Amino acid sequence: MSVTIGTPLQSSAFKVLLLGSGELGKEVVISLQRLGVEVHAADRYDHAPAMQVAHYSYTLNMADAEELKQLIEQVKPHLIIPEIEAIATQVLVDIEEQNIATVIPSAKAVNLTMNREGIRRLAAEELGLPTSAYRFADTLESFRAACDDIAYPNFVKPVMSSSGKGQSRVKSFAEVDAAWEYAQTGGRVNQGKVIVESQIDFDFEITLLTVRAKNAETGEIETSFCDAIGHRQDAGDYVESWQPQIMTPLALEESKRIANKVTVALGGCGIFGVELFVKGDKVWFSEVSPRPHDTGLVTLASQFQSEFELHARAILGLPVNTARHSTAASAVIYAGVDDRNLSFSGLNLALANPNTDLRLFGKPEGFKRRRMGVATARAETTDQARELALHTAQQVSVHQN
Ligand SMILES: Nc1ncnc2c1ncn2[C@@H]1O[C@H](COP(=O)(O)OP(=O)(O)O)[C@@H](O)[C@H]1O
Ligand SMILES: [Mg+2]
Repeated sequence: MSVTIGTPLQSSAFKVLLLGSGELGKEVVISLQRLGVEVHAADRYDHAPAMQVAHYSYTLNMADAEELKQLIEQVKPHLIIPEIEAIATQVLVDIEEQNIATVIPSAKAVNLTMNREGIRRLAAEELGLPTSAYRFADTLESFRAACDDIAYPNFVKPVMSSSGKGQSRVKSFAEVDAAWEYAQTGGRVNQGKVIVESQIDFDFEITLLTVRAKNAETGEIETSFCDAIGHRQDAGDYVESWQPQIMTPLALEESKRIANKVTVALGGCGIFGVELFVKGDKVWFSEVSPRPHDTGLVTLASQFQSEFELHARAILGLPVNTARHSTAASAVIYAGVDDRNLSFSGLNLALANPNTDLRLFGKPEGFKRRRMGVATARAETTDQARELALHTAQQVSVHQN
């Protein structure tokens, strides 16, 4: 069955509901708009980035099952795209079961990946993929034991958290109680459970963007891969990324094997950001997002179809092309201040080099470490591209009004 796209704002409209309207969602919406899809964007605050380019927008608490159900009944979307993890995912499971709408990529994927325990147990215990050693703990007592068991240094993360929130790297027993306290305040919900992971001593980490899309002739879902993206994280948050990340043929093969296995298990169509740690020929699975990945913003500059276009096409059942045309890098632009109504200058200098580009997300409020934009750059080598992207980002200055 292939999709038929109607006319937005009319009875034939093909409707998509985006749950979470951040900068990644904004690019997905732009891609969908170009294909004539009617887009409804939701988030917990007004004027979120993707809302600004959607046909309709809604402000609500998406973690509240009743509010979420009501919105879905009102919009009657064909597809629901969860863009964040803090959603009442049980509602999506019900919606999918009752065939009310298609959840992207699947309710199972959304449900399992919103909780580190779900996805880790699937990857390590069901699929047998290599991961760091890990334990779960939900009391201080069991947490202390888990830390001793895993040894030091280790990584502690609330099971319901993302973007480094509540995470710490624990170097010795002396730091254990503080890490517990920090995890309790940093999670999405006060659920208390954490994962303790052994530290993987990797050479580098990658995101392997993996697309599950229908073959145009056979209609079968096929897996394809973008070139590996290398990235640098600071306090659990990405600061720069580049593509391609050079790796050994064996490590690349193993990365694809892992990514294929985990995405097949999650099911559905769309793009997945598979995070992997690499040391020589050895690869560990870290985590996976069933949606575009922040480090994949670099594909805006490097690929014929960015990760956002790939996602839009894949979820509509259309063919995809993951080919890369350039070596490129991305660098994050932070607000640097806690304030609303910010202004950005220096853009002329930032864009003076013809191989650079910018995205300013239009977030209504900034805070010191909030990502407000991204710079991208193309060059001969990834090192040159990184340097140029960082330089471009630095040219942008943020002002309070
Ligand atoms: N077990 C580990 N060993 C080494 N580094 C780790 C480990 N777990 C996390 N990290 C580092 O912290 C970053 C963020 O961790 P991650 O699990 O991806 O959390 P998030 O969901 O917030 O992105 C990783 O990209 C990596 O740089
Ligand atoms: Mg991550």
